[in-house]
Amino acid sequence: MERLFQIAIDGPAAAGKSTVAKIVAKALGFVYIDTGAMYRSLTYKALKTGTDMKNGIKLKELLDVTDIVLKHSEIGQRVFVDGEDVSERIRYPDVTAQVSLVSSFGKVRTEMVRRQRKLAEHCSVVMDGRDIGTHVLPRAQVKIFLKASVDERAVRRFREEELKGLHPSIQALREAIALRDKKDMERTISPLVKAKDAIELDTTSLSVDEVVDRILNIAKERIRR
Ligand code: DC
Repeated sequence: MERLFQIAIDGPAAAGKSTVAKIVAKALGFVYIDTGAMYRSLTYKALKTGTDMKNGIKLKELLDVTDIVLKHSEIGQRVFVDGEDVSERIRYPDVTAQVSLVSSFGKVRTEMVRRQRKLAEHCSVVMDGRDIGTHVLPRAQVKIFLKASVDERAVRRFREEELKGLHPSIQALREAIALRDKKDMERTISPLVKAKDAIELDTTSLSVDEVVDRILNIAKERIRR
């Protein structure tokens, strides 16, 4: 049987994980799995159905009847919740503001992790998130922890928003990112921490191409082993 290969990319909000993970996956012919999109999908559904986002049991019940599909196409990953394309909607500020809370509940996380492991059962993957190297794929052959200064991450998010025709304040983005970091790092269950065997890359002064090249070099060297 063909040996499956796993690359885990973790790190704080807006550190560039999904941008580099997508390119690395394409270059290697692996499937890209955006686990943040799964937590965002549940948050979207909770907003839509008026579910109490402080109630982990209600959120888990909602997740049990929610179909989340990550589809891969030439134009990139699309995210579907119960058949509805929510790829753009799950990036809106109302979802972003609540997703750390929704993702803090143990019952929600257990089910998400079960679904994430299933997605990686039959193919080689690049999976990004907060707990991939520590918890979801602890035996991943490559574990990367991406970080960048809060200021740099706020500027990157600002540029992304500008491309969508939006003009948010950099200060507001900075505060939102810092708050999300704090919540993701301080939660009790699977908090954002670097796995002991992860390679840390500070991307503050690196271009996307430089980060991708470093990850590809590490991956290719381990694939050869
Ligand atoms: O990567 P992102 O910004 O789309 O993730 C959204 C949120 O989901 C993030 O603030 C924390 C949560 N998350 C998580 O707890 N575990 C993951 N594996 C991925 C995301």
